[in-house]
Amino acid sequence: MQMNNVLCEKQNGTAVVTISRPKALNALNRETLEELIACFEELERDGDLVAVILTGAGEKAFVAGADISFMQRLNALEGREFGKLGQAAMNAVDAFTRPVIAAVNGFALGGGCELAMACDFRIASENARFGQPEVNLGVIPGFGGTQRLPRLVGRGQALELILTGDMIDAEHACRIGLVNRVVPLERLLPECLAVAEKISQKSPVAIRLCKEAVATGLEMDIARACRYESDLFGVCFASDDQKEGMQAFLDKRAPHFTGR
Ligand code: CAA
Repeated sequence: MQMNNVLCEKQNGTAVVTISRPKALNALNRETLEELIACFEELERDGDLVAVILTGAGEKAFVAGADISFMQRLNALEGREFGKLGQAAMNAVDAFTRPVIAAVNGFALGGGCELAMACDFRIASENARFGQPEVNLGVIPGFGGTQRLPRLVGRGQALELILTGDMIDAEHACRIGLVNRVVPLERLLPECLAVAEKISQKSPVAIRLCKEAVATGLEMDIARACRYESDLFGVCFASDDQKEGMQAFLDKRAPHFTGR
């Protein structure tokens, strides 16, 4: 598919997906959301892919939100459809079977913060700014923000951000657990690639099942979630990766995982 606003470049086993609409600080319009979904569908079919890094073009913005000039004209039904499309794009990122790291390189506001939160974890540059400023526009966060933010940082921190529309800096985001760490802008991509490289050394089977255990288990009560974990733990023993990983440990050598 020809993409105008989403670029995808593969570096070894890692795909760097870049939202690129510089004239609107990478804001998400319908075309960009559709391209994002198509891009992740295509990446899902790439059997060699280890991880994805999601970032924004330029040095100013990750994604400055859903596109306000596009939304300004919408009626209620169109607004609902746009919200569903945005949620589908966030869900495509959230449900991706390989790790997705957000490299937050500037403004991550509204739909941009929601997109970062749909990733598995976030590493931010020092100039990154986060917020859910929808209340300034007469709307509520609509791409999952009212749900993912409290799950990530807790109800009180989430509601303060959502109700005030305040923008917070990267250090503040780190303090409340919205990002894992903060690095200088020039170190952001190398740092994310290094994390992806580290993950690429591990068992692909285990990596997928870890993601599944965390994502699915968080939606269950702890007793059912732990039973689900036992099931997935058991599934590992059907894999070559488990046999290789444990044998390599006993042989005192590095494992050679095949992902089978
Ligand atoms: N939608 C459309 N265009 C946007 C945009 C957005 N979300 N954010 C920035 N732009 C455009 C600006 O209109 C401007 O375009 P022009 O040059 O044609 O005027 C260009 O990007 C540069 O932006 P600014 O001149 O405003 O840059 P700045 O440095 O002065 O400010 C900013 C940067 C603080 C990020 C400011 O642009 C801003 O507040 N943007 C809007 C942020 C926002 O409210 N996001 C939430 C959107 S609602 C949402 O996302 C709903 C949801 O949950 C799905």
